[in-house]
Amino acid sequence: MASRPRITIVVGARPNFMKAGPVLHALQRHGGFEVKLVNTGQHYDERMAGSFLRDLGFPKPDADLGVGSASHGKQTAQVLASFEEWLLAHPQDLVLVVGDVNSTIAATLAAVKLHVPVAHVEAGLRSGDRAMPEELNRLATDALSSLLFVTEPSGVDNLRREGARADRVELVGNTMIDTLLRFREVALQSPRPPDWPDRYALVTLHRPSNVDDGAALRGILGALQELSAELPLVWTVHPRTQKRLEDFGLAGAATAGGRIRLVPPLGYVEFMAAMARARLILTDSGGVQEEALVLKVPVVTLRENTERPVTIDCGGNLLAGNDPARILAGARTMLARDPAAFRVPEGWDGKAAERVVARLERFFAEGPSL
Ligand code: UD1
Ligand code: UDP
Repeated sequence: MASRPRITIVVGARPNFMKAGPVLHALQRHGGFEVKLVNTGQHYDERMAGSFLRDLGFPKPDADLGVGSASHGKQTAQVLASFEEWLLAHPQDLVLVVGDVNSTIAATLAAVKLHVPVAHVEAGLRSGDRAMPEELNRLATDALSSLLFVTEPSGVDNLRREGARADRVELVGNTMIDTLLRFREVALQSPRPPDWPDRYALVTLHRPSNVDDGAALRGILGALQELSAELPLVWTVHPRTQKRLEDFGLAGAATAGGRIRLVPPLGYVEFMAAMARARLILTDSGGVQEEALVLKVPVVTLRENTERPVTIDCGGNLLAGNDPARILAGARTMLARDPAAFRVPEGWDGKAAERVVARLERFFAEGPSL
C-alpha cells in the first residue's frame, strides 16, 4: 500500500453528487488520504451533472469516462470496462461508491474483481421491489462491498438479515443531508422566481414504472390536473420524463392550461429553495423524500414502496402509488399534517461524512481486506 491510502470516489448520475461531495471534502480536510475523483458520465447534461460538480465544490475529476445513456446492460458494461481500465492504470487501495445507480454497481464490480475493497455510502436500503433497477444495484453492491455506510436503522436491519458482517456495517447518518445543511441558508435566502405562484406544490417524477408506461403517466397527469385546481403545481421535468411526455403526446396536457408550470431540471440551490417554499411535494425520487423531511415539507411518494421507511416513520411521507384517487387523497392528507411535528432521523446532522472518514481511517489501521 502507498504511504497514504489511495481512495477513489466514483460519481456519475445526479443524486451521486450530493452524497459523495461531503465525503470527498472530509477526506481532503483530513489530509491522510490520496483522493481521486472519477466521473462516469452516466448523466452528462449541464443541468443533470455539470452544474452539480461546480456548485457543490468538486475538484476537476481525475477521469471522465463519458459513458452516457444506453440500455442497462450496455451502460453498466461501459462503466465496468472503462473503470477497470482506469483502475489498472491507477492502482487504488479503496473505491468509494454512493447510492444505487448503474454506475454504483459497475464501479463496484470493476474494483472487487481487481481485489480493491469497496466502501458503499447509502448501503442497506431496500424497497423489496426487484422490478426496480435500483433495488438490484443495491443488493449486488452491498453483497460485494467491504464497508457498508448506512443512513437509517432499516438499512442495518436489512444488512443483518442478509448476513452482512456486523463489524463492516456502520450507521453513519446521511451524507446527502450534510450537503443540504451546508447550503440550506443560502437556499432559504434566495428569492422566489417572480413568475412562480406564491402557494404551490412541487412535482418530480422519473421512475420508469411511472413515466415509461403511458397508462400510468396519463393517470398521474389526471391527478395532477385535478390537484392543480386547488393548488398550482411547479414540475421540474427530468429528461427521461420530458422524452416520455413528448412520445405519448402529453406535453400539452401536462400544463393543465397554465396551472402546472413545467420547468427544466433545476440547479441544486434553486431546487432546494423550490422544495423549501413548497406546501407539498409529489415525487418518486429517493433523495427528495429525505431532503423534504429535513426541510419539513410534506411529501406524497408516487410509489407502492420506499427503501427509505424512516421518512414515513418520522411523519413526513406517505405512499400513494400511481392511482389517481390515492394521489389526490394522499395530497389532502399530507396538506393537513403539521410539518413542525416531523422528526429528523438520528445522524442527519451534517456530520455523516466525518463519521465515514473516521471509519475509513480505522479500516486502514486494522489492515484493509476485501
Ligand atoms: C438514473 C438512475 C436512477 C436515478 C436517476 C436520477 C439507474 C438505473 N437509474 O435514472 O436510479 O434515480 O438516474 O436522476 O442508474 N438523459 C438526458 N440527459 C442526461 C441524462 C439522461 O437526456 O444527462 C435522458 C436520456 O434520454 C436517457 C434517460 O434520460 O436515456 C434516462 O437516463 P438514465 O441515466 O439511463 O436513467 P435515469 O432515468 O436518469
Ligand atoms: N434535484 C435537483 N434539481 C432538480 C431535481 C432534483 O437538484 O430539478 C436534486 C435533489 O435535491 C436531490 C437529487 O437531485 O439532491 C435527487 O436526485 P434524483 O431525484 O434525480 O434521483 P434519486 O434520488 O431518485 O435517485
